[in-house]
Amino acid sequence: MELSICRKTFSFIFLLFSPFFSSLSCKACNAVDKEALLEFKHKITADPSKLLQSWTSSSDCCTSWEGVACDSSKRVLNISRSGLISDSDFIVDTYMTGTLSPYLGNLSNLQVLDLSDLKDLKGPIPPEFGKLSRLTHLFLNSNKLTGLIPITFKSLARLEKLYLDDNYISGSVPSSLIGSLTSLSELGLSGNQLSASIPAAIGKLLMLTKLDLHGNNFSGGIPTGIGKLRKLKYLDLSENQITGSIPHSIGKLSELALLYLNQNKISGNIPASISGLSSMQFCRLSENKLTGSIPASIGLLLKIQRIILENNKLTGNLPATIGHLATLTDMFFSNNRFTGKIPSSFGNLQNLQTLDLSRNHLSGKIPPQLAKLQRLQSLDLSSNPLGLVRIPNWFAKLNLFRLMLAKTGIEGRLPRWLSSSSISILDLSSNALTGTLPNWIGNMTNLSFLNLSSNGFHSSIPAAFGNLSLLMDLDFHSNKFTGHLKTIFSKETQDPLGHYNSIDLSNNMFMGPIDENIVDTPTMADITSLVLSHNPLGGAIPKSLGKLTELQKLELVGTDLSGKIPVELGNAKELTTILLSKNKLSGAIPEKVLNLKELKKFDVSGNQLSGRIPPHKADIPVSAFKDNPGLCGPPLPPCKRS
Ligand SMILES: *[C@@H]1O[C@H](CO)[C@@H](O)[C@H](O)[C@H]1NC(C)=O
Ligand SMILES: *[C@@H]1O[C@H](CO)[C@@H](O)[C@H](O)[C@H]1NC(C)=O
Ligand SMILES: *[C@@H]1O[C@H](CO)[C@@H](O)[C@H](O)[C@H]1NC(C)=O
Ligand SMILES: *[C@@H]1O[C@H](CO)[C@@H](O)[C@H](O)[C@H]1NC(C)=O
Ligand SMILES: *[C@@H]1O[C@H](CO)[C@@H](O)[C@H](O)[C@H]1NC(C)=O
Ligand SMILES: *[C@@H]1O[C@H](CO)[C@@H](O)[C@H](O)[C@H]1NC(C)=O
Ligand SMILES: *[C@@H]1O[C@H](CO)[C@@H](O)[C@H](O)[C@H]1NC(C)=O
Repeated sequence: MELSICRKTFSFIFLLFSPFFSSLSCKACNAVDKEALLEFKHKITADPSKLLQSWTSSSDCCTSWEGVACDSSKRVLNISRSGLISDSDFIVDTYMTGTLSPYLGNLSNLQVLDLSDLKDLKGPIPPEFGKLSRLTHLFLNSNKLTGLIPITFKSLARLEKLYLDDNYISGSVPSSLIGSLTSLSELGLSGNQLSASIPAAIGKLLMLTKLDLHGNNFSGGIPTGIGKLRKLKYLDLSENQITGSIPHSIGKLSELALLYLNQNKISGNIPASISGLSSMQFCRLSENKLTGSIPASIGLLLKIQRIILENNKLTGNLPATIGHLATLTDMFFSNNRFTGKIPSSFGNLQNLQTLDLSRNHLSGKIPPQLAKLQRLQSLDLSSNPLGLVRIPNWFAKLNLFRLMLAKTGIEGRLPRWLSSSSISILDLSSNALTGTLPNWIGNMTNLSFLNLSSNGFHSSIPAAFGNLSLLMDLDFHSNKFTGHLKTIFSKETQDPLGHYNSIDLSNNMFMGPIDENIVDTPTMADITSLVLSHNPLGGAIPKSLGKLTELQKLELVGTDLSGKIPVELGNAKELTTILLSKNKLSGAIPEKVLNLKELKKFDVSGNQLSGRIPPHKADIPVSAFKDNPGLCGPPLPPCKRS
């Protein structure tokens, strides 16, 4: 429609100025622009999604080419051919192979260039892109681009959004380059191989609202000038090699909603100025070398939702002021060196869903005020010298999905209130629990993960255990459990839920033999790890174990097994670990088993195996075959000719 109006107007003027207008034809887009686009297409070697199908030399690039938009003077303004195309109600994921033509640099009016998510654009970014002085948006993220960020980019003074994330771009980001891009509001360079320091000139980008440099190899410190970026809302410097401390100036970023500095080598204290981050919702400083205590001023972060400080070296008491953070939903403080009591003010965190204080040096009484945390779903206090003795009865008032109290000094019997809880994930391992596994364990029907390892339970497994139809991971190792395994292996499921993923019953007094038909139930069909070592099982290794198509780890060390290693075990193709040492196994080692493709750990030492060790590719040490009087051949001494 537009074209026909254009024709009419022009045909009228045409009569008056025909020599002039015959060259500046309205029908076609600018010739230089068109050539540049055709040259770009020329360098695309595969376009299976037909993104450039409409780009033909016989048609008008302004009106007929998909993803190309022009201004009124027929100059190309926008190019948008990203790999994610949303149709009315679905998204088509697509790709394009090729390199970026330097001719694109001739599109002198270009404002938007979006070639993101094409996955397979390779080679360097042409320095000619520096000629695109009107460019406001450049999106080349999610490709396979290599080389440096061209220094010519310093001419892109109007650039507002630059996304080069998820490529293979390397080298440093020169200060002179970045300092020139003063119109930038969003800069994404994440997921590349950029190195050297984050340039100090970043402090000149006063319009910046989003800075994402995560997943590179940046080293050196965080520039102090970061504090000048008062509009910054999103700052992600995680997964680099950044050292030094968090600059005090960071506290000036009052608009900042997200701060990710995790997985670096940042040391020093969390600055008290952090209280200035009054808009902060998400704060992740985990996996660093932070020391000192958490400043009490943290209590001023009145919009905070998640604080992740785990895996640092933080010390001191947990500040009571944290209790002011009514918006807080998740606290991950694991694996630090916090001491003292859990502050009773934590009971005011009415929105708290996750409280993880595990692996610290916290002691003293757990404040009963925590019973007020009605939204709490996950509580992890494991590995703290809390000397609990009993799990306080008020825990019954919590509606927990996950309760982790490993190594907290719990003694005596399992508390009965557990029977009416809806806990799904329960870890009470490494405590001093004793007595029987009660019948009411069968009432905990929401259990999907149960770890009671390293305690003093001494009983058989009650029949009601079979009611745990959602249970997937069971760890009972290092107790004094007795009786038969059948109750465990034949528990109910709620298909497709409740199939076992892992079972560890090692270091108990369970009796065998392992039922030949155990794999006939859906319960066992998907198991990846079966560890039964150090139990007086007796009997043979069932052939049917070979039907466990997901099994990766099979450990049956010291279980009084006799008979042969079934060749059928070689059908369990995912096996990486087979430990059968210290049994009474006889016969030969089946070639098929020793040559399982994924096999990494194999040990049959201390049996009565005989014959030649089959040739195998896996690197298995001599010690794995020792103490089998009849076994010979590499890596053992050669077999004697008979
Ligand atoms: C070019 O892209 C910009 C930014 O996305 C948009 O605002 C403008 O409307 C587009 N121009 C044309 C002619 O499509
Ligand atoms: C466009 O750019 C290419 C390569 O950068 C150059 O060789 C060519 O002379 C330019 N063409 C026009 C018409 O400006
Ligand atoms: C990252 O930088 C360090 C020095 O800071 C260097 O030793 C290392 O090789 C670099 N790694 C990569 C993947 O470039
Ligand atoms: C199991 O969980 C569901 C939903 O989370 C809940 O409705 C149900 O009451 C729980 N069952 C038990 C036995 O606690
Ligand atoms: C159970 O807890 C112990 C430590 O207390 C741990 O080593 C083991 O990995 C846990 N089991 C599972 C299945 O996570
Ligand atoms: C366990 O559940 C059964 C059946 O729902 C019920 O009769 C019994 O009282 C429960 N036991 C405990 C200890 O809650
Ligand atoms: C739990 O298991 C026992 C023994 O197998 C059975 O008698 C009982 O009906 C089961 N209870 C529920 C609530 O399913």
